[in-house]
Amino acid sequence: MTQNRKVKVITVTGGKGGVGKSSVSLNLAVALCQLGRKVMLFDADLGLANIDVMLGLKVRKNLSDVLSGECSLDDIIQTGPAGLRIVPASSGLRKMVELSVEQHAGLIRAFSELKEEIDILIVDTAAGISDMVLSFCRAAQDVIMVVCNEPTSIADAYAEMKVLSNDYGVKKFKIIGNQMHSLDEGKLMFQKLLMVTDRFLNVSLELVACIPVDVNLRKAIRQRSCAVEVFPSSPASRIFKVLAARVLQWPIPDVPGGHLQFFVENLVRHEHDADAS
Ligand SMILES: Nc1ncnc2c1ncn2[C@@H]1O[C@H](COP(=O)(O)OP(=O)(O)OP(=O)(O)O)[C@@H](O)[C@H]1O
Ligand SMILES: [Mg+2]
Repeated sequence: MTQNRKVKVITVTGGKGGVGKSSVSLNLAVALCQLGRKVMLFDADLGLANIDVMLGLKVRKNLSDVLSGECSLDDIIQTGPAGLRIVPASSGLRKMVELSVEQHAGLIRAFSELKEEIDILIVDTAAGISDMVLSFCRAAQDVIMVVCNEPTSIADAYAEMKVLSNDYGVKKFKIIGNQMHSLDEGKLMFQKLLMVTDRFLNVSLELVACIPVDVNLRKAIRQRSCAVEVFPSSPASRIFKVLAARVLQWPIPDVPGGHLQFFVENLVRHEHDADAS
């Protein structure tokens, strides 16, 4: 059975390391599951703090095994809190932009043959602005930038948006202020970001959430879970729930063919094609 329903695809990025991309991806994904949606979290970060490590999952097979034809995508999917479906990180992903034509086709087939129907796909990316991170941003319908109120985070988010808008045609960004001490701090951070993007880039930014500093995020990971699951009324969890409800209102554009297929086709498209689109 192929995936026929519309799928919302969101990539979570931010430029700088440690700003909270994985925390946002995981908690938002689980909050969406709690709203009854079928959600898949695609871990595109090969760093140390992988989603499977955060949740203590045992990964035996990964996307490399799918690409080599050893198993299907359904075989590697793991289950997280609230029934979240997780595609674990894979070193095979590192060369995503260098895959052969056969592997491209294999990846597209893997997604289009997915047995489970899903409503939302969230992609957690690595720090930095590698080709892989940028490709995942280009292929998604929405790009969430996680930004802290620190000059380095703001500078790195700006640098990533600059490359994405100039070279990849991504012009719209949803900003999440993370590790905020107040809503005012979030708004201030957003103003700082706007000051530079309005001046130098042709992009539009929307502040979609301000996540407070909350020790429960770390505590939850120590329990191999996430805050929205084990500390549902903590300050950050409350905001994640509001954000999840808001995400459901974001429109899903019509695309030719299946949504997931379109996503993967975009993902593996060569860099220079982006300039023509
Ligand atoms: N709002 C928050 N309040 C308190 N701690 C937070 C918050 N957000 C994230 N953290 C903590 O900051 C650390 C880094 O978070 P996380 O791993 O989500 O960042 P990341 O951007 O995915 O990092 P990387 O670039 O390494 O992938 C973790 O210990 C996490 O628990
Ligand atoms: Mg991470």
